[in-house]
Amino acid sequence: MTSLVEVTNMYFHYPRARIIAGEAAWTLEDISLSIQPKSTVGIVGESGSGKSTLVRVMCGLLRHQQGNVKFNGKDLSEFEGDGANDLRRENQIVFQNPRRSLDPRMTIRRSLSEPIRALHNRQPGDDEIIATIERVGLGREVLSRFPHQLSGGQLQRVGIARSLSVQPTILYADEPVSALDVSVQAQVLNLLMDLRDQLGLTLVMVSHDLGVVSRMCEEIVVMRHGRIAEAGRTDSVLARPDSNYTASLLKAARAASLERA
Ligand SMILES: Nc1ncnc2c1ncn2[C@@H]1O[C@H](COP(=O)(O)OP(=O)(O)OP(=O)(O)O)[C@@H](O)[C@H]1O
Ligand SMILES: [Mg+2]
Repeated sequence: MTSLVEVTNMYFHYPRARIIAGEAAWTLEDISLSIQPKSTVGIVGESGSGKSTLVRVMCGLLRHQQGNVKFNGKDLSEFEGDGANDLRRENQIVFQNPRRSLDPRMTIRRSLSEPIRALHNRQPGDDEIIATIERVGLGREVLSRFPHQLSGGQLQRVGIARSLSVQPTILYADEPVSALDVSVQAQVLNLLMDLRDQLGLTLVMVSHDLGVVSRMCEEIVVMRHGRIAEAGRTDSVLARPDSNYTASLLKAARAASLERA
C-alpha cells in the first residue's frame, strides 16, 4: 500500500534562523515517517519541539531544505504552480485558536464559502453550506452571525466545518482543543473522531495530552528538539517506551491526571 504521506530524511530551518559556524541550525532534523491512508496519527512532544512546523512542512505550507516529502506518492515539488491548489485542498489544518483563524469581519456563511470559491473555483449553493454546518452539530441560524457572536466551542466547530468544506483527504488538527474550555474539549474531540469515521479521513492530531492521543490515535510520533525521539504503534510505545524522554512525558502526564482527579 502506498503511504499517503512519506517523509524521508527531511531537514528544515526557518529563513532567518540563526547560523552557527556556517551551518544552519535546523528546526527539524532528519525526520522520516510515513502516514497510511485512513490512519490516525498523534504527534506529541514538549513546546518548541517542532510539532507545528512539521505539520506545515507536510502540508506544503513551509518548504524543507533537505530530504523528501511525498503526498500520495508525488514529491511536493510536483504540486508547485497549477497543482498548488490541489495540495491545499487535500491537506487541511484545524488550528488551535478558532478565534484567530476566522476573519472577524466575515459572517460564518462567508467563512465557509470562501475556501470552496478559492480551491474549487465555484460558488457553493445554500444547501451545501447548510449541510456543511449541520455536519459539525450546529444549526443554520449561525450562518448569518459573526465570529464574536459564537462561543469558543462553536467557533472550533466552524473551523472544522471550514476545513472539511473542500473535501480534504487528510486533516491535521494542531492542538484543536487546547484553547477551549475543558467542558467542551471532549465534545469537539468526539466530533473529530465521528467525522473521521464518516468521511474516511486520515487524521493527524498534535496534542499535549497523552491520554487523548492514546484514545484517538493508533500511531504516535514523539518529537524532541526537532527530531523524532520515538515512533510506532501508540499502545506499544506507551506501554514500553524506548526513550527516556517518552517515559518522562508519560510520568508527567500521569502526575497531571492524578492532580486533576
Ligand atoms: N515563524 C517562525 N520563524 C522562526 N522560528 C520559528 C517560527 N515558528 C516557530 N519557530 C521556532 O521553531 C521551533 C519549533 O516551533 P514549533 O512551533 O514547531 O513547536 P511546537 O512543538 O509546535 O510548540 P508548541 O507546543 O508550543 O506549539 C521553536 O524553536 C520556535 O521558536
Ligand atoms: Mg505548535
